[in-house]
Amino acid sequence: RERKRQEGVNLLELSASFFRERLKMPEGQQAREYLARRGLSEEVQRDFGIGYAPDDWEALKRHLSARGVAEAVQVEYGLLVQREESGRTYDRFRDRVMFPIRDVRGRTIAFGGRVLGDAKPKYLNSPETPVFHKGRELYGLFEARQANPRLERLVIVEGYMDVVALAQFGIRNAVATLGTSTSEEHLGRLFRMVDEVVFCFDGDRAGRQAASRALETVLPQMIDGRTARFLFLPEGEDPDTLVRREGPEAFEDRITCASPLSEFLFDQAARGRDLARVEERERFASQVLKAVSRLPQGMLKTVLLGELARRTGVDQSRFDALLASEQEAAL
Ligand code: CTP
Ligand code: MN
Ligand code: MN
Ligand code: MN
Ligand code: MN
Repeated sequence: RERKRQEGVNLLELSASFFRERLKMPEGQQAREYLARRGLSEEVQRDFGIGYAPDDWEALKRHLSARGVAEAVQVEYGLLVQREESGRTYDRFRDRVMFPIRDVRGRTIAFGGRVLGDAKPKYLNSPETPVFHKGRELYGLFEARQANPRLERLVIVEGYMDVVALAQFGIRNAVATLGTSTSEEHLGRLFRMVDEVVFCFDGDRAGRQAASRALETVLPQMIDGRTARFLFLPEGEDPDTLVRREGPEAFEDRITCASPLSEFLFDQAARGRDLARVEERERFASQVLKAVSRLPQGMLKTVLLGELARRTGVDQSRFDALLASEQEAAL
């Protein structure tokens, strides 16, 4: 298994350096202009190993094959696509800006590629391979730890460009999930490194839905001493656009002021409800209690129940009893 990983990583490193070199060559000019338009310095491009996949069906295939990498292996690691009918193979990534995805030790395990214009799909990612599992990896984690080995907080954003743009402005603790929602595995991994995570999704409907899902996922991870907060961006903004418009100090302020988990939880349960009405208060309390029931035993759970009691005017022991009987029913 370790040998397998080694084989894959070598081939992926070869590909990453191929893409980086192509970015510097004449054929990479449009990609360089694109990156410059998006405000990325050569330094940050270097830190993240950004490259360019040429507009050619077989450029990478020729490069790797000439170095003795079997086509079947190139297919296995997601660099070539193989047609079902004819069995013919061709480069998966063509005419795209390439972001290498690295594991925590800095080894390239996959790629994300962005088109230079408005073509679809905007981003193309490596498929699942022997070394790449989307639900586990976080883009930018290696780079964040390189920049600061004693990280205390990580900011979870949606996209590659968000991570890189924040880094460009000196905010070097952002990571992105790779086109999937934040998984328990992601959070388990992050909380082993830091005590605080800040979710910062796009200011659009998808981003708000992602925040609600992230709340669900993070609840069971909230052992005492850990902090989760939620940063909501203005409508239409993502971290990339906002840090460019407002600058890094303003963005840092937003991170510092992000809503604590408790506030997001209560706000979300209260949204659109008139808590002066008994039935709406009942729904509010049910929703909060349901979330609280997913928390591990600890002080946060206790204090949230106290807050729920305060907000509903119901004695806390009633909620304790409900939770206990629910837990009994679940056994
Ligand atoms: N994504 C993807 N495939 C797509 C669109 C999006 O995998 N076709 C993932 C990418 O990881 C992307 C993230 O979802 O970075 C967020 O999507 P979106 O907000 O649409 O893209 P941005 O990151 O804002 O991309 P850009 O700023 O380059 O337009
Ligand atoms: Mn897998
Ligand atoms: Mn979006
Ligand atoms: Mn976005
Ligand atoms: Mn964007």
